Amino acid sequence: MEKNGNERQLAAQSAAARASLNSVCRALLVALCLTVLLASQSRSQSPRWTIGMSQCNLGEPWRVQMNADIRKAAEAHPEIRMVFKDAQNDALRQSAHIDEFVSAGVSLVIVSPKEAAPLTRPVQEAYGKGIPVIVLDRRVLGDQYTCFIGADNRKIGRAAGRWIATTLGGKGNVVELKGLMTSTPGQDRHRGFREGIEGSELTVVFEADMKWLEPNARKEMESALTRFGKIDVVYAHNDPGAHGAWVAAKAAGREKSMLFVGIDALPHEGQMYVRQGILAASFEYPTGGAEAIQTALEILHGKKVSREVVLSSRVYTQQNVDRGGEPVH
Ligand code: FRU
Repeated sequence: MEKNGNERQLAAQSAAARASLNSVCRALLVALCLTVLLASQSRSQSPRWTIGMSQCNLGEPWRVQMNADIRKAAEAHPEIRMVFKDAQNDALRQSAHIDEFVSAGVSLVIVSPKEAAPLTRPVQEAYGKGIPVIVLDRRVLGDQYTCFIGADNRKIGRAAGRWIATTLGGKGNVVELKGLMTSTPGQDRHRGFREGIEGSELTVVFEADMKWLEPNARKEMESALTRFGKIDVVYAHNDPGAHGAWVAAKAAGREKSMLFVGIDALPHEGQMYVRQGILAASFEYPTGGAEAIQTALEILHGKKVSREVVLSSRVYTQQNVDRGGEPVH
């Protein structure tokens, strides 16, 4: 009887051990199932679309800002994954980058082209293969793309011309330092500016293509300074150009005898130069990064988008920079 009692006790103990083992196993199984479920859920949240962004160069602060604006806007959308390529100011390399995006089967391409003609073929081909293409800031030739986003460069150039004419009382000698003239913003900022000073007695005594680059602008300005004893204003197609001209004039001890006007007006570049009294005015050229992502999402969701998105601009002068500038009309 005694023995039986012990056996019963032992049997009861091992039954209890089995039960607790069972419940541990069940718990482990549940944990495993949960892990698998969560993993599959996180897989289903992995990006649905890949967007290729072809940037012509990252040597200038404005382009670094454009990529940062794109990245920030894209981060709010886990359904998209961004792939950035930097062509380092080489149009051939940029063409190859777009071709690579096409072969990789990206869902959409955003391109900020170095110049119009050489980038037209790859954009056209991508678009022809059914990949939506958003052209940002500088244009390509023709109309084989989905959407163009950018500010109105001709309008900005015209506003700069009018502002300079008014500020100088309608006369004076002008140096025009042009952006890359094979790129559309250079062409439009030039054309608009000439319209803006039309009818005034302002004379453009010196003009040169500084290709958007500060060191080139500085060199060109050194030539202008040696050739012309009286320069009243430098109109540069971007702020790095205006700053390069100012550096050259300062080295010659002449920076106080003339005004410097640029375009871009980044807070930490053009606006800062205006605050520091280096530039008399800077006209904003928005990067369009956020708008590009917004438009890309609309396209990817099958919505119809406008062929042109025109961004507005502001002008910053020493009088209004602390108030956040004024709109350009
Ligand atoms: C940067 C930049 C800007 C300018 C824009 C025009 O590469 O030169 O300074 O506003 O490109 O496309």
